[in-house]
Amino acid sequence: MGGFELLARDGLARIGRFPTPHGVIETPALLPVVHPDPARQPVAPTELRRRFGLKAVITSSYIIWRTPPLAAIAEERGVHGLLGFDGPVMTDSGAFQQHAYGHVEVTDSQILAFQGRIGTDIATVLDVFVEPDAPRDVAEAGVRETSRRATQARAGRAGLLAVPVQGGLDPDLRRQSAAAASSTGDVLAVGGVVPLMERYRFADLARVLIAARPALAPEGVVHLFGTGHPMTFAFAALFGVDLFDSSAYLKFARRGTLMFPEGSVSIDGIQENICRCALCEHVPLTEVRDLPPPERETRIAEHNLLVCSEEVGRIRQAIRDGTMWELAERRSTGHPALAAGMRAAIRGVRVFLPTEPESRRAFRTTVVTSGLRPAVIRFLARLDVFKSGRGPYKPIPFVPLTTAALRSIPAATIDGVPLFWEILRPVGLVPLELSDVYPVGCYLAPEEFDPPPRTGDLASALEGLPVDREQDWSEAWTRRQVEALLAWRYGPDLASALLAVGVVGFRSHRTGRLRRIERDGTILFHLGSEGIVRPTFEGGRALRAHLPAPANRIVVAPDAVPFVREGRSLFSRFVSGGDRTLVPGASALLVDESDVLLAVGRLVLAPGEMGRMPRGVAVEVTAHERGERAPEVEDEAPSPAATL
Ligand code: GUN
Ligand code: ZN
Repeated sequence: MGGFELLARDGLARIGRFPTPHGVIETPALLPVVHPDPARQPVAPTELRRRFGLKAVITSSYIIWRTPPLAAIAEERGVHGLLGFDGPVMTDSGAFQQHAYGHVEVTDSQILAFQGRIGTDIATVLDVFVEPDAPRDVAEAGVRETSRRATQARAGRAGLLAVPVQGGLDPDLRRQSAAAASSTGDVLAVGGVVPLMERYRFADLARVLIAARPALAPEGVVHLFGTGHPMTFAFAALFGVDLFDSSAYLKFARRGTLMFPEGSVSIDGIQENICRCALCEHVPLTEVRDLPPPERETRIAEHNLLVCSEEVGRIRQAIRDGTMWELAERRSTGHPALAAGMRAAIRGVRVFLPTEPESRRAFRTTVVTSGLRPAVIRFLARLDVFKSGRGPYKPIPFVPLTTAALRSIPAATIDGVPLFWEILRPVGLVPLELSDVYPVGCYLAPEEFDPPPRTGDLASALEGLPVDREQDWSEAWTRRQVEALLAWRYGPDLASALLAVGVVGFRSHRTGRLRRIERDGTILFHLGSEGIVRPTFEGGRALRAHLPAPANRIVVAPDAVPFVREGRSLFSRFVSGGDRTLVPGASALLVDESDVLLAVGRLVLAPGEMGRMPRGVAVEVTAHERGERAPEVEDEAPSPAATL
C-alpha cells in the first residue's frame, strides 16, 4: 500500500500528500493528460509544472506501446525520458481506447509489464470499461474480470498500482468493485464515467460515487477518470475524489471552447474580454479569437489549464476553510445538471456523515438545498434524541439576540415542570439552550436579514403559566444551558452527574455567551464560538470517571503512550481502538489500554480511518497532565448576521 497522508479535510474532500518515486503529489490534484509524443503535446510537461503549477501528469501507456518509435524510446530512457519530465507520471492502460474503439490489442499482463519496464510511477490495471447503461450481466462480467486482472497485477508489481472501479450504474456492482480495488490498489480509480460527464449526467455520477464510497479504503487515493471541466472539480472533490485527470483542456481548445469554473464559453462569440488571467491579460480574447488555428488552440488550451489550476487551488483553500459545500453549491449553479448532481448528493447524505466535522467556523446558505447539508441533517437527528425526555418546550415569540432580551425571559413552569423555551431559526425550532451550537449558531441564511419574526409578545405567551418572578432567571438559565450543552455532547446522565458535583457556567461579560464550565475554581470545559463543550485535562478526568468505556475514547497503543502523555500528537499507526461514533474535529479522551487517561485531543481522522491510514496524525493533543493548549481565539459574535 502507498503512503497517503491526510493533512486537512472538509467532509469527504481531503488535502493530502501522496508520495511517488518522482515526488509527492499534493491532493486534490489535477493530472493533465499529456500525449506521449512530444510533437503532439502543445504544452510540455515541464511547462505544465513551471507555468501552471500542475506537478504530475498522466499519459497513455497503450499509445506508447502501439507506437513503436515511442515504445523504443520509452524502453530505453523510461517514460520520464520520453516525456522530458522528472515529476510524478501516472500511466493509463488502454481501457479508454476499448471504450472508444471497441477493442484493444494488448493483454492486461503485457501492458502491466510494459508500464513496469518504462518506469511509470503509478501503473494502471487494464480494466474492462463498463458502459453506464450496460446490461447487468455485462457489467458484472466486467467487474469480475477487472478484479481478476487487478489481483494478478498486484502480485506482479511492487510499485504503485491504480485499480479501476467499474460497475456501470449498478450500486451493488460499484460497491463490490470498490471493495475489490481497495484490497489491491494504491489508487482507486473510478472509471466508466466519461459517458456520464459528456452527457452531463451528474446525478448519475453522484449516485456512482455514493455507491462506491463506503467500500473505498480511506488509505486509498481516489481518482476519477476523465474529470475534465473545472466546473466539476469541486463537485468531485466533495465526494472525496483526490485526483482528477483530463484531456478536456485540449479537446475543448480544439473546438474553440474556453473553460471557466462557472461553465464553458465559445471563443467564436467572444466580443468582450471576459477573462483577465495572466494569459488573456497579455493577448485579449478578442484577439485570440482571430488567431490562426494552431496558435489559437494553444492559447485557449493554456487559458483552460490556468483556469483549471486556479480552481484546484480554490478547492484546496475551501477544504482548509471548511467551505467545500459552499463552493460545490456555488459551482452547481453553473448548470442545472450539476444542481441535479448536488441534489443526488443530498439524497446520499448518509455517506457524508462519518467524516462530517463536528463544527465549522461558518455556515452560509447558497442554494435552496443548503439547508439539507450533512451538518444540518446530523443536527436535526441529534435534536430528536435530545428533546425526547425533556420539555415541555414552548416557542419564544421573538428572537432574543441581545443579552438584555435574554434577561427579560422569565422562568416558568407547566404543571410544576420547568418550561423550556425554543426559538425559530432557519433550521426550524431550536431549544434556546442550543442556539449557539453549530450549525445553528453561525447559520447564515437570507431569513437572517428579514425583520426578526414576531409571532406575539412575551406577556401573552406567558398567560396562564406560573411564572417565578422571584427566581433569578439568569442564574437558572445558565445552569440550564450548562446542563443542556453537556447533555447535547455527552448525554443526560453525564450532565446530571456533573451538575450533582457542582459544576457552574460562566458567561462572557460582553456577549453573554457561555464561555466555560468550572468546578471549585478549576476549568473543566471551554466553549468556543461553535457552542460545543471542549474538555480541559481536568474535564477529561471528570468525563473518564462518569462515562463508561469506550465512550468518547481513543485508545493509544503502548509504544505511543509516553509521547501522548507528553502532549505529542497521536499518529494513526498507534491507534488501537476507540469510540466509532466520534467524528473529525470532536474532542476525545486519549487513554491507554487500561483506560488510564493520557491526554485530551481533537480528532483529525474519523475512527474508521485510524490505524488504516499508514501515515499522519490521527488526534491532535489539546491538553495533557502538565499542559493545556490555549483555546482558539474566538470572535465573540452575538448574532450570525454580525459575522458578515
Ligand atoms: N479513462 C477514462 N475512463 C477510463 C476508465 O474507465 N478506465 C481507464 N483505465 N481509463 C479511463
Ligand atoms: Zn484567460
